[in-house]
Amino acid sequence: MTAQGVRFDAAAARGLEAAYQTIDVILQRVRVLDALALSPGDHVLDIGCGPGLLLEALAKTVSPSGRAVGMDQSSPMVDVASHRCEVYPQATLEVGEALDLPYPDQSFDAVVSTQVYEYVADIPSGLQEIRRVLRPGARVVLLDTDYDSLVVHTEDPERLARILEAWDEHFVHRGLPRTLGAEMKKAGLRVRRVESIPMLNVAHHEDAFSWHLTRMMAGFSAGRGDCTEEDTRNWLAELERLGEAGEYFFSLNRYLFAADREALPGEA
Ligand SMILES: C[S@@+](CC[C@H](N)C(=O)[O-])C[C@H]1O[C@@H](n2cnc3c(N)ncnc32)[C@H](O)[C@@H]1O
Repeated sequence: MTAQGVRFDAAAARGLEAAYQTIDVILQRVRVLDALALSPGDHVLDIGCGPGLLLEALAKTVSPSGRAVGMDQSSPMVDVASHRCEVYPQATLEVGEALDLPYPDQSFDAVVSTQVYEYVADIPSGLQEIRRVLRPGARVVLLDTDYDSLVVHTEDPERLARILEAWDEHFVHRGLPRTLGAEMKKAGLRVRRVESIPMLNVAHHEDAFSWHLTRMMAGFSAGRGDCTEEDTRNWLAELERLGEAGEYFFSLNRYLFAADREALPGEA
């Protein structure tokens, strides 16, 4: 566990599996795959692979001669991802730590990590580890959320502020994208593309990402700090009402950074 209160257990794995099959996150994966620009035969590492939806797409893309390696600190996440990817012989999975990657130097053509480094306290060390396992000229794509980009319609802003303050304990960095590009450059990763990926929902239903995220936020925040269970119950009820009235609005930005590992003098 790297953040102050988050548990990536079996229940979280099931919750993320549902949230990450919404159209919003499917479209995000398409953009991540586009930025990664993999070819069949590539060796790619997915750090913090979670329930393995991106890993499955990576395995298909590098097939048949490539290798897609999924790694996560959470055994329940690795179990779910292993089950999902068991039909792909080119996919392998293991438990591991982003700050101590269990792979030799220069062993991958590409590294990807989505929604992970906001939970990792030591960003410079994490980026050095990514650089270490990349071959010269290899690609990396990182994607994280900036929670200050959150815009949610509510008739009770003070209640929402209490919920958001409690939710802050879910991650280490609430605004990692603001500094991530500069940190990547310092780590010897040449950033060539930065994009925002809005999670924008104006309807409230199970096929929308925010339907899942707001439930996760309520479940995590209830009873933390100044946020009561009544606050979160009333907020979820309000979102339902706004949805039924056609007045629902939720927007939260994720940011994608695509970079190449710079070759050192004397390297290929
Ligand atoms: C929000 S989930 C994202 C899962 C997946 N990358 C995706 O976008 O579908 C964050 C994942 O990062 C993993 N994680 C967090 N900190 C980690 C660390 N220091 N090393 C390895 N995995 C980590 C968690 O266990 C969890 O599965």
